[in-house]
Amino acid sequence: MKKLLLILVFVTTVNAQDITSLEKIGPVVRFEKTDQTVTLQCHDNSQVQLTVLAPDLVRVRAAFTKPIPAKDHSWAIAKENWTTPRWNVTETPDAITITTDELEVVVRRSPLLIDFRDARTHQLLNADERPMSYDANGRLAGIQFDPKAGMFVAASKKFGFDEHFYGLGEKAARLDKRRMSFVNWNSDTPGYNEGKDPIYQTIPFYIGLQRGVAYGIFFDNSYRSYFDFGRASSERAWFGAEGGEMNYYFFYGPSIKKILSRYADLTGRMPLPPLWALGNQQSRWSYFPDTMVEEVVNEYRKRDLPLDVMYLDIDYMHGYRVFTFDKERFPDPKGLTEKLRRQGVKVVTIVDPGIKHQKERGYHAFDQGLEKNFFQRRRNGDLFVPRVWPGDSVFVDFTLPEARRWWGDLHRFYTDNGIAGIWNDMNEPSDFVDQTGKNQLDVVSHDDGEKTTHAKNRNSFALLMARATYEGLERIQPDRRPYVITRAAYAGIQRYSTMWTGDTNSTWEALSLNIPMFTSLGLSGEPFVGSDVGGFIGRGNGELLVRSYQISFLAPFCRNHKQHDGYDQEPWRFGKYYEDIIRKYLKLRYALLPFLYTTLEEAHRTGVPLFRPLVLNYQDDANTHNLDDQFMIGDDLLVAPIMKPDVTSRRVYLPAGTWYDYWTNKRHTGGTTITVDAALDVVPMFVRGGAIIPVGPMLNYVGEKPTDPVTFNIYPDDAGSASGRLYDDDGLSPAYKQGAFRRTALTVRRAGRGFIVSIGTPEGTYSPGPRTFNLVVKSLGPDAKPLIIKDDGRAHEVELK
Ligand code: GLC
Repeated sequence: MKKLLLILVFVTTVNAQDITSLEKIGPVVRFEKTDQTVTLQCHDNSQVQLTVLAPDLVRVRAAFTKPIPAKDHSWAIAKENWTTPRWNVTETPDAITITTDELEVVVRRSPLLIDFRDARTHQLLNADERPMSYDANGRLAGIQFDPKAGMFVAASKKFGFDEHFYGLGEKAARLDKRRMSFVNWNSDTPGYNEGKDPIYQTIPFYIGLQRGVAYGIFFDNSYRSYFDFGRASSERAWFGAEGGEMNYYFFYGPSIKKILSRYADLTGRMPLPPLWALGNQQSRWSYFPDTMVEEVVNEYRKRDLPLDVMYLDIDYMHGYRVFTFDKERFPDPKGLTEKLRRQGVKVVTIVDPGIKHQKERGYHAFDQGLEKNFFQRRRNGDLFVPRVWPGDSVFVDFTLPEARRWWGDLHRFYTDNGIAGIWNDMNEPSDFVDQTGKNQLDVVSHDDGEKTTHAKNRNSFALLMARATYEGLERIQPDRRPYVITRAAYAGIQRYSTMWTGDTNSTWEALSLNIPMFTSLGLSGEPFVGSDVGGFIGRGNGELLVRSYQISFLAPFCRNHKQHDGYDQEPWRFGKYYEDIIRKYLKLRYALLPFLYTTLEEAHRTGVPLFRPLVLNYQDDANTHNLDDQFMIGDDLLVAPIMKPDVTSRRVYLPAGTWYDYWTNKRHTGGTTITVDAALDVVPMFVRGGAIIPVGPMLNYVGEKPTDPVTFNIYPDDAGSASGRLYDDDGLSPAYKQGAFRRTALTVRRAGRGFIVSIGTPEGTYSPGPRTFNLVVKSLGPDAKPLIIKDDGRAHEVELK
């Protein structure tokens, strides 16, 4: 038994020894330059291609002992046509140097080592620790999922003494990934705790930060991949994969925000979801029959708790057949969605990838898919039959464009029934026969004509399923923004779907992962994130639920969800005391919608997320580098929740500057750690001096009333200045992409004892209709009267005393 364990440990761990035993790429013998590219010819017949995409973005591609293949395809990449920036190449006997306005890439010829430097200061940003390497002798075959599907490739970077590592998408780990190692292999991992790895998603992108200067690396390879940030050895931070190409993109900041914008250029921006997706959402495995769904909504309304969305989990279907409703439980789905619509509530249904495999004809999704040959097959031509909720099932080959189209079009069934959004789950893909993927080893996907197997396609399955769903909804309802939420993903997922962090536990330990996970996802190009409020598995309690809402009420995705056998945990289930506190935070979320939506639009436009770690806003401040029990919304709101039972105070780090206690307006000078009280009904929140926070009227659901008045809460900094923005659009249609939005900018400056507020001429063609702006300067004390002005869509300058 012991022996077996040892072997197991041996085969599942890649240690430093492993990559040092790999074959190194040969020295450079010559190079060629084209408009965008330098191709290095190596002594061992390997080739390395460096492509300049932007002054701060260079792609590195290597083929070992062979030329770079002509075929170049990735499901993650959104932008392929880059306008080549100014750049040049110089050479010395030892090195070849590519220089852009921002980056200097120095390739030493022998051994072949790549350094990335700042073009202006020549400061080293990132350096190869050893040449890129490959597993010529099958040394790592033992750890590979499928040694026949590819050869292990790796790149190794020097590990900085004070280097911090962020990103890597969804990991059950802390914010700073320094001294940790990870595997990417999309996995169904219910009840995961900190340290469980891998879990559902694969985003092979990370950001390194050292001396306040940041770079990013996106290793675009969907095979099972490995990242080690100085865990196995403090000599190196390395990454590798069990097949495919050494293919990575190097991003230079120096700011993290700039890297995130570039990453969004490359892998795509999050389109704006409908505004109601920022509303409060409620789910349960499962609400049925239809009257139960109505009852929950009635309860919400009766108790004066805001609600926008109800979810139907797997039991709405007829025998778990996707694209059907159970006729007894939901005899009139259209009637139900219509009834709820009148109460301001939308319905989202779960759609899993498993289509029931059945002998008899009559289930359209199975019949059509079989007829069209859209289902995944094994190499020998047999249908691949995994087992999921419906029992024996089949999966669509989502790499086939026609199959994606067909799948997308099937969603007309839902939209015709008034369903407002689609929840993609189990898309790792989960298979009850075997969760490791071994049962799918020989499953072949079309894969852009390459006919590759599971080793390559597992990690991108969910991305393509979400894509099929999103594109389908977009075709079916071109005047509406699709709303999709997914569990699994690969890089680029933000183009199609929002996400939630899967099957968490209803425990304090799980709750404490919320902030590091949401912020890490935001640093990995996924801004629309959230977790099951209250936790999914097990028995929660009122205190845990309240503290959970005190984080999630500011997360883009705010949905209470629970497993079938867990305790009921809708906001009222633990008694009035807790319900009253939850109401306070749900109402605050709705009041803050103008602020949240303005910040979400920024995430859409710039790739910089709404839910941020402090390091994103204060990367020069070393106190923030591994701070992950506080977060910020945008640049302005700092939140320090409680994540332990029976705790009613905590320490809060306030970066340099002036900070206002959100609840009392008391001013603090930052650059220090303070201790604050946090009774159960209080989550410590601070507003940055210099900010203007737009707040709207109380709502029971999005669109209940116009956003009128908008109150601008002004928090002047020490110099008496502040600035802020308000973004509006119709909240539903894609017209914002054509400029149908209104962005209003405000600036405030001190004038004598008072302030001058300048409201700029708004941008965009959208008209929110006549409305009122209330201007309130928070430093003037509680008795200061708001100044009320009519927003007529023109510039204004007013004085406030
Ligand atoms: C998975 C999902 C969970 C859902 C359940 C039943 O466990 O992660 O959210 O409730 O399946 O569909």
